[in-house]
Amino acid sequence: MPHPKKDAIRVDQLLSRYGYCSRREAHAWARAGRITLDGVPLKDTSERVDAKSVLVDGASVEAVDGLLAMFHKPLAVVCSRDGREGPSVFDLLPPQWSQRNPPVASVGRLDKDTTGLLLITDAGEWVHRWTSPKHNHEKTYEVTFEGEPKPGMVEWFASGALRLEGEGRCCLPAKLVFEGPGRALLHLVEGRFHQVRRMFAAAGLTVIRLHRPRFGPYELGDLAEGSWRLLPMPE
Ligand code: URA
Repeated sequence: MPHPKKDAIRVDQLLSRYGYCSRREAHAWARAGRITLDGVPLKDTSERVDAKSVLVDGASVEAVDGLLAMFHKPLAVVCSRDGREGPSVFDLLPPQWSQRNPPVASVGRLDKDTTGLLLITDAGEWVHRWTSPKHNHEKTYEVTFEGEPKPGMVEWFASGALRLEGEGRCCLPAKLVFEGPGRALLHLVEGRFHQVRRMFAAAGLTVIRLHRPRFGPYELGDLAEGSWRLLPMPE
């Protein structure tokens, strides 16, 4: 049966672009019978195909351009890929996401000791858009802290006059809501290094637990720790 030529791509390119294997490995996988095209074992990896007709080990190829996912980051993993900093969030995501071309990255970072919503994407232009305060994507943090809050802290955080230690520029106005003894919500539009912990430290308080349930329009909801969910790429 003739295969559609529209959107056709070489099988070896298809598998390397979406992070399954290198082009050379694709050849070995084909020889081993792991790749089928319309149900028939494929031998020639230079063949141009429609991605939808190809199965690897019996499963369809996830050939999505513009990958976006939310991940529920657990404690004790870092957003860096540098193994010296500890286990990485990327170890908990499908390995082919990191082998794609371009690979996925996190949209900003959460500290090792912070849990919550981390966006993962291969779309570099969106990383900038979501992290730049200009675009006003509010992030919500649930903060558990030790210490006695001083009167006027809500107004100080909202004033745009809070300067973090070692920084020249003040923080943009942030919305702080006390939820109960030792518990608060903080809504930020920027994402400076350890910003929540440092803002609380500036007020003489120590953050002992930090969780981000929301990033812009996205909410973790009941997504379990360590799990991810694909999201539609915004227009
Ligand atoms: N602020 C912090 O202090 N840590 C985070 O992980 C995120 C925001």
